[in-house]
Amino acid sequence: MKKIIAVDGPAGAGKSTVSKIVAARLGYTYIDTGAMYRAVALKVLQSGKPAEDVIQDIDIKLDEAAQVFLEGVEVTKDIRTPEVSRGASDVAKFGFVRQKLTELQRAMATQGKVIMDGRDIGTQVLPNADLKIFLTATVEERARRRFVELKEKGFAANFDQIKKEITLRDKQDSEREIAPLAQAQDAVLLDSTSLTIEQVVAEILRLAQG
Ligand code: CDP
Repeated sequence: MKKIIAVDGPAGAGKSTVSKIVAARLGYTYIDTGAMYRAVALKVLQSGKPAEDVIQDIDIKLDEAAQVFLEGVEVTKDIRTPEVSRGASDVAKFGFVRQKLTELQRAMATQGKVIMDGRDIGTQVLPNADLKIFLTATVEERARRRFVELKEKGFAANFDQIKKEITLRDKQDSEREIAPLAQAQDAVLLDSTSLTIEQVVAEILRLAQG
């Protein structure tokens, strides 16, 4: 059984949904690194301070139920707004932010039995992961999923706006200088456009057991 699984890919490809299910089936810990970038962005927005100051002594914790805590306060839902999504992609450009979060993420993975999702897990954070997945889908499908997800969470959502924001964030994430969104050479490419959640989960479980 593969002990460390890295899942990367663009916004809305289904990384967190399938990673959570795979973690539950294998008895692994799920680590959502995007939530950590989102927490940094939320702290910047809340404090009005620059990312350089905010990152110094930031306290971010993820629990077993994938709840997110910033300075001891639960912010699981607060980090899902479009404003924080944009902010996360903005702070993710800074080397000092990436360095700090990468250290935290590596520390979280030392004991193994983890599935970690993000943009640079297979390429930078855990280059020795036992299994690397690069999960994609067309931008139309990813925008549709994010639209449904935001609606379900009670946020106002506009499909065209979401599609525009996802396209912009993908471009920003793929073109940044430090640790851009990229498929690792040894990652398995999974296009989830016409697959159900269960089909993607089954494929990852099959690869994890191989
Ligand atoms: O859930 P969604 O795919 O929309 O995004 P996320 O995984 O929560 O990540 C939010 C933002 O954090 C991304 O757009 C990236 O800019 C950044 N991020 C990153 O740079 N590296 C990671 N390992 C994870 C996220």
